[in-house]
Order: sequence, then structure tokens, then C-alpha cells
Amino acid sequence: MSRPTNRRGFLGTCGTLTAGAAGPFFPSTPRALADETKAKNDRFALGLIGSGSIANANIGVAKPWIDLVAIADVDARRSAAFNARHADGKAAVHDDYRRLLDRDDIDVIHVATPDHWHTKVVVEAMLAGKDVYCEKPLTLTIDEGKLIRRVQKETGRVVQVGTQQRSDFPRFVTAMAIVAEGRLGRIKRVQAAIGGAPSSYSIPVAEPPRELNWDRWLGPAPAVEYRFLNDPQLVGKESQEKSNCHYEFRWWYEYSGGKLTDWGAHHVDIASWALELNGQTAGPLSIGGSATHPVAFEDGMPVERDRYNTATAFLFTAEFPGGTQMVIRHDTDNGVLIEGEKGRIFVSRGKLSGAPVDALADDPLPEDALANVYKNLPMEENERKGHWANFLHCVKTRQEPISDVHSHMKALNLCHLAGITARLGRTLQWDDAAEQITGDEQANAMLARPYRKGYEIEMG
Ligand SMILES: NC(=O)c1ccc[n+]([C@@H]2O[C@H](COP(=O)([O-])OP(=O)(O)OC[C@H]3O[C@@H](n4cnc5c(N)ncnc54)[C@H](O)[C@@H]3O)[C@@H](O)[C@H]2O)c1
Repeated sequence: MSRPTNRRGFLGTCGTLTAGAAGPFFPSTPRALADETKAKNDRFALGLIGSGSIANANIGVAKPWIDLVAIADVDARRSAAFNARHADGKAAVHDDYRRLLDRDDIDVIHVATPDHWHTKVVVEAMLAGKDVYCEKPLTLTIDEGKLIRRVQKETGRVVQVGTQQRSDFPRFVTAMAIVAEGRLGRIKRVQAAIGGAPSSYSIPVAEPPRELNWDRWLGPAPAVEYRFLNDPQLVGKESQEKSNCHYEFRWWYEYSGGKLTDWGAHHVDIASWALELNGQTAGPLSIGGSATHPVAFEDGMPVERDRYNTATAFLFTAEFPGGTQMVIRHDTDNGVLIEGEKGRIFVSRGKLSGAPVDALADDPLPEDALANVYKNLPMEENERKGHWANFLHCVKTRQEPISDVHSHMKALNLCHLAGITARLGRTLQWDDAAEQITGDEQANAMLARPYRKGYEIEMG
């Protein structure tokens, strides 16, 4: 295993760090895996499930180490285009992802479907003996997380969640090292600002494209009609295509948690990691706040089913033992604010700032500070590429990757609880040891969701 870069000079000369500042301080080629994957038979045979926009970015960066041998997508237009672009048309193409799990020659699976499919595919992939890189958010519910964690423990499979901010050294990992080194003192408050979500007007029912298997796209979610509108009025303003399908699924509770899990999976994860590194390992005691939805809700369910329904605006506060608070909001600079007794820092994809960052010029972090928070795993330039390198390295060494399912679910539980609070409009009390909402049966029932007949998880 190669050793982490010596960061002393870097952190000793930089105050506020901005995107791109890392360039000269990281090697320009991946180190950790470059040597490990020289031989053809050292490469990973990868099966891709869901060939949409993020898969494009992910397979692009993982290419030095993987051979894309099979693609599953329920939209044949997408799998064909992906195959041509990333595998010279040579990958096997399927509509049903289970054909990939049947193959003994596939080492790793990348899951990049919409969120409502993640749990079923990840669990079945682990049971089929595959290691998995699954996009965030790992689940649609808290109970799905319990299942994934259990199966991961039982099977010992390596599962990386696609929260690549955990592999961003100049900003997020450095921020975590500042916390871990005690430079902020005891953390009192963390704030994840994740932006709001769009609303829509009524989106008309439409005939699904011939190449799209709409029933299979819906999978475990309720059977509903396909909706689609290409609105020329929106050119240059926002997404021109409104639908309950590709990309736009994010704004429907049936398939996603809205912004709370779309971006919450990233920034609440960083906020939660900071608390953990600060020795505050207990989960929340309660969460409450307020949210605005584009439609009315009754008993936690949207009344109108023809338009986006996830929260557009929100402000939640989770209370932790010892008086620590975590705030999740839409309305201020996107990023994570970490406030401790000795100082505060702000970290986002664009910058890391605050007096404790400026102080590194005179008092740099110890050489091993970043390596320590990164579990002493090899580091790479570029967070998305590094996140893949981290995963594939762990597949070889059987170590736990940096975005393991256990830490991810700790953060994602908060996002899901915020979603339940939003939908019911009341504060929730949480028993972290039992992973149950206390004193609220209706809320507790929302820890799980029904799976549509024919699309239940296949446990063996
Ligand atoms: N890590 C990040 O920064 C990041 C960024 C964007 C998206 N994501 C995540 O990636 C996932 C995909 O998002 P996207 O924007 O690429 O969505 P998308 O709609 O562009 O792509 C999803 C693809 O999955 C396919 N699909 C649906 N059901 C399937 C099934 N049962 N089997 C095989 N294929 C199936 C769809 O047809 C589509 O081609 C989401 O969970 C999202 O949260 C992560």
C-alpha cells in the first residue's frame, strides 16, 4: 500500500482553500491502484446497473482499473448509448439486473439506479457474492438500512457508498482532520446547508417510450402512470423535461427523499462524521422543525400525485446528548458549518475557511492527521476518482472502505428522520439504540415502506 502524501508543507502555507488548490500537492496519476492493476488479470470485471448520468461520471473515472463487461438498464436507449461510449459496444446488455448477478466472472457491481431500487439490488448483489459500489443515498428508509447493514456483516462483502466528499482531501478530509486533532474543541453545533428543491405544475400522463420498461423502472414502488412533459417555456431556466422518471425522480417521495437525501446524504454525512471524530458517537435524541411542500400532505402522504411532492424549503434541528445540535436547512450557503468551543470552520465543495484553517499556517496538522481520518487508506487526487480507488483497493485487501454502510446509515437515518418530521409536521423522539421513533406509531410505521408484489427483495 502506498503511503499518504506528506501534507505538512501544504497545510502550513494555505489559509482558505479553494477548489483546484490541491493540484500541485497530489500526484497527477493514481498511485494506490496503478501498480496493483498493471496485469490484465488484475483488473476488475465490473457489471453496471443503471446507466444514467452519474454512472457516466463514475465509469469515466474508474476506467483505468475496470473492464465494463455488462450493463443492465430498463431503458434500452441508455444502455446502448452507454455501451457504445464506455465499452466500444462490447459489454453484454440486459434489461434485468439479475443476469449480472448470475455471472461468476463479474467481480464488482456498480449500482447507479434511482434510490428506490438501491436496497433490493445491493442486498441481492451481496448475497450473490459481489462487492458493490452503490450511489448515495443507500436507502429510501431506515429499516432498509438495518437490512443492508445486517447482510453486509453476514456476507463480509465490501460496499462503498457514493458519497465521494469523503475522499476530497483539500477540503472535507482536511476539515475532518482539524476536528479530529481537537482544533475546534468540543463541537456544539453542526449545520448542513443543502439547498432547496423545485416544485412543478401538474405533469401530464404520457405513453412511456418504447425502449423503456416502465413497470421495471417502478419496481418496488407503487404502480403509477408514466408522466412526462418537455416544456419549451423552460429553455435556459431549469430542467426542460418534467417527469416522474429519469433524473426527476428526485422530487418524488415514492422514489427518493428529495433534497434531504439527495444532498443530505453528502453534507449530513460530513456533519455526522465530524461528530464521530469529536468523540460524540451517540445518535440524536429528537428532531423537529418545519418544511414547505409543493402539495398538501395527509397522514404523511402527498394528496396530489401528479406533480413533484418533496420538500422545497425546510429547517430542522436534531438534538444530541450533551446539548449538541445538528441543523439541516435549505436557505444558506451550501456547505457544512462546524462550530466548536474553540472555533468554527466552514467546508463545501468550493472552500474550507475559518480561523482554525488560517491558524494552520503557524501550527500545521501532524503529518499523519489526514491519513488517520482516512482510515490509513491510500489517497488519490480528485475525489470521485479517489473514491473509486478507495473502493477497489478495499476489494483487494478486504478492508472497510471510507464510505462504509454503517457510517453512511448513521447519517442517512438523520435525513430520513427529517423527511418523516417534514411529512408529518411534528417533532420526533428517537431511541437510537433500538432505532425506533418513540411514542408515535404513525411515524414509526414510516421507518419502512411496502414493496410492490413481484419486486420484493430476494433473500436467497
Ligand atoms: N454521488 C453523487 O454526487 C451523485 C450525483 C448524482 C446522482 N447520484 C445518485 O445516483 C443515482 C442515479 O442518479 P442519476 O441522476 O444518474 O439518475 P438517472 O435517472 O439519470 O439514471 C438512472 C438510470 O437507472 C436506470 N434504472 C432504473 N431502474 C433500473 C433497474 N431496475 N435496473 C437497471 N437500471 C435501472 C434508469 O433507466 C436510468 O438510466 C441516484 O441514486 C442519485 O442519488 C449521486
